[in-house]
Amino acid sequence: MRHLIDILDLSTEEIDELIQKACDIIAHPDAYSEKCHGKKIATLFYEPSTRTRLSFEAAMMELGGKALGFSSASNSSASKGETVADTARIVSNYADIIAMRHPKEGAPMVASMYAKVPVINAGDGGHNHPTQTLTDLLTIYREKGRLDHLTIGFCGDLKFGRTVHSLILALARYTDIRIVLISPDELKLPDYIIQDTLIAKNISYVETADLEEYLPELDVLYMTRVQQERFFNEADYIRLKDSYILTRDKLATAKSDLSILHPLPRVNEIAVDVDDDPRACYFTQAGNGKYIRMALILKLLEVE
Ligand code: CP
Repeated sequence: MRHLIDILDLSTEEIDELIQKACDIIAHPDAYSEKCHGKKIATLFYEPSTRTRLSFEAAMMELGGKALGFSSASNSSASKGETVADTARIVSNYADIIAMRHPKEGAPMVASMYAKVPVINAGDGGHNHPTQTLTDLLTIYREKGRLDHLTIGFCGDLKFGRTVHSLILALARYTDIRIVLISPDELKLPDYIIQDTLIAKNISYVETADLEEYLPELDVLYMTRVQQERFFNEADYIRLKDSYILTRDKLATAKSDLSILHPLPRVNEIAVDVDDDPRACYFTQAGNGKYIRMALILKLLEVE
């Protein structure tokens, strides 16, 4: 039985296979409409979500299966003190696969130790969000036709942005990747990712606070929201939340084939006047999330 807790649980070959499978699902959705007939996914979300939870549920339904679950800790027995371990044991009786989001880093890993069915990490605290990374990789692949020979800028909250952490781990496996880390000093990428991934794998990277200086060099710009819920101090959040606001005017110097991604939800960091720019990919990206999760469910349930 396989779980997906960290993007590195998948080999590069497996990631590439998932991307190809998602592309096939997009091209031939009818061929997949009964693949999971009789199967159920449980979405156990202890933290708010729109895209991840609903796309997991839509993914299982489009495969012919069903979905059940809860969307906040307060309407589950976690509010009475039930542990993640006990919840995982119990829900294994009701569903064939579990997708879990939790504010505590490592909670989905704990669930995977006690569940009798595959567990997918749907985001754990400020740590990892591997299915968002699969979504991002599918989007980059569909936009660019490749996952190598790319200069990718990450902009905003690189400290708490779990989607950034997972995507950098994945991209570091591809050839000729150059990474530009754009953030205020207080929201820089954690040092353990710089040391263990970028330096250890000899990835070319630069840290800067200046988006406009590096914008003309980028093939992909990955904007992120400042993660209010991870701040201990409201005043710090208020000071930092509008550090970067991408507008249509600022894009004048960017490449004509730049791809702008954002895991969403956005707050202020991308002005709505960018939405109509052909380089804006973030709504397509959210749509891709359903297809890659369909491919992942098929893989973890070992459905041919
Ligand atoms: N990208 C993402 O995780 O969105 P949600 O929080 O809405 O699931």
